[in-house]
Amino acid sequence: MHRFDHKHILSMEDLSREDISLILQTAESFKEISSRPIKKVPTLRGKTIISLFFEPSTRTRLSFEIAAKRMSADTFSIAASTSSAVKGETLVDTAKNLTAMQPDIIIIRHSFSGSPNLLAKHISASIINAGDGTHEHPSQGLLDLMTVTEQKGDIKGLKVAIIGDIAHSRVAHSDIIGFTKMGANVHIYGPSTLIPPGIENLGATVCCSLQEALQDADVVMTLRIQKERQKDPLFPSLREYASFFGVNRRIMEAAKPDALVMHPGPINRGVELDPDIADSTCSVILDQVTNGVAVRMALLYLIIGGGDKT
Ligand code: CP
Repeated sequence: MHRFDHKHILSMEDLSREDISLILQTAESFKEISSRPIKKVPTLRGKTIISLFFEPSTRTRLSFEIAAKRMSADTFSIAASTSSAVKGETLVDTAKNLTAMQPDIIIIRHSFSGSPNLLAKHISASIINAGDGTHEHPSQGLLDLMTVTEQKGDIKGLKVAIIGDIAHSRVAHSDIIGFTKMGANVHIYGPSTLIPPGIENLGATVCCSLQEALQDADVVMTLRIQKERQKDPLFPSLREYASFFGVNRRIMEAAKPDALVMHPGPINRGVELDPDIADSTCSVILDQVTNGVAVRMALLYLIIGGGDKT
């Protein structure tokens, strides 16, 4: 049995294939807890988990909280707008003060790429990266891997197309690294202004058209345009974006007939993804959300848990 010896979850880059397999197996074993009439196990009783979110979140924040509560941990959350960060306290000072209250894990989302790594250097609690700037979103990458593994059995050899704002998407980075590590062939496509130079170094193939990216794809991952990270307009209009880069029923004909459509959320319907496809039987978008709870239970357990998980 592979031993998981990470104190922090900072990036997909840090995780080996064996680590990823163990996380996915552990998540599968925890998934059933969420369908019990009493959705609670005592595994993390007495543990304290703090969520520190400096950017908005629906799925990540809530699923970490649900995951922790289902394992009986004590959870606390603090939003930047109601914290003393608004009075000028630095991130490291905030984290040091939270650490003085002896949490076991601090989960952080921040617009600064590298903020979880910075905290990991300065404080004693375990740190989980819940999305840092344009860098990584490892728990999202893991739940995406879990969803595809459930649907396809094995990731090795699959063609995964990732479409959209690759440059500003931390999900894209974690997905490219994770899917490549697990043996998939990752193809990316988007406006040339949203494809970062050197992205091939992560193992992705940059395509010249949407048709080429989707041709015989097993998985089509669509991404939101991260307007909050773009200073100047990087494409002419949303209407043009939708017509050249949006995934719809017509372009999906290029993919395999049993291709999965995914999206990390939130979706801008009619821009990167047609509602027709988002709500179709090939969409596993809500399965991704369900698996988010299981993956986050697994991460909390592997970092600070132990003993009998049931
Ligand atoms: N996928 C994701 O990170 O969603 P939230 O921003 O709602 O957490």
